[in-house]
Amino acid sequence: MMKSIFFGVVAIAVAIMSLSQDTVHAQQQTGEAATVEGDYKWDNIENKCVKALHKQINEEFNAAIAYLTMGSYYRQEKINLIGFSDFFFKAAAEEREHGIKLMEYALMRGKGPVDKDSFSLDYSFKVEPGTDGEAGLKMALAKEEFVTNSIRGVIKACEAGTNDYHLADYLTGEYLEEQHKGQRELAEKIATLNKMKKSAPSLGEYLFDRTHM
Ligand SMILES: [Fe+2]
Repeated sequence: MMKSIFFGVVAIAVAIMSLSQDTVHAQQQTGEAATVEGDYKWDNIENKCVKALHKQINEEFNAAIAYLTMGSYYRQEKINLIGFSDFFFKAAAEEREHGIKLMEYALMRGKGPVDKDSFSLDYSFKVEPGTDGEAGLKMALAKEEFVTNSIRGVIKACEAGTNDYHLADYLTGEYLEEQHKGQRELAEKIATLNKMKKSAPSLGEYLFDRTHM
């Protein structure tokens, strides 16, 4: 299981570093637009907004690591909740994709894919032994709430000053939409799992894992 986490994280890190290195020489420290030939500026996105966007990119990859950890936890032979494991591995892939899409957005606006000075992956996320399926879903819901608030923070930062309508609209329309639907899905799963666990907790969790995840 640790191998899965390790390879997943290495793949993410390699992808980020190679993209980052390609643009490092073309970037200035503040993430200003690339100046390949001559000194020109073609986008007025504010640094405060870029900084918030780069922080959000970091959060998306941190969420991917957390979900990889959870997916691995539920796949251990003594726990063997394959449905939960698949659900969290899929969630990890989605978070990675969110991170890449925001990197592409930053590049489209003439900025670096990450802030090379502050980008750092958080490996501190742990799943305590004995964590059951319901606790995992609640942890995921808390994580999604955190990410949703973090996206709202980026929108707020980009609304200040020159008011970056395009990025605010992109995040509001695509990212917040997905966040709200995802949170609703997790809340539904918690409610259904609770009902199924009422008379026989272990059997209820097993059946939920096989039929609802
Ligand atoms: Fe995300």
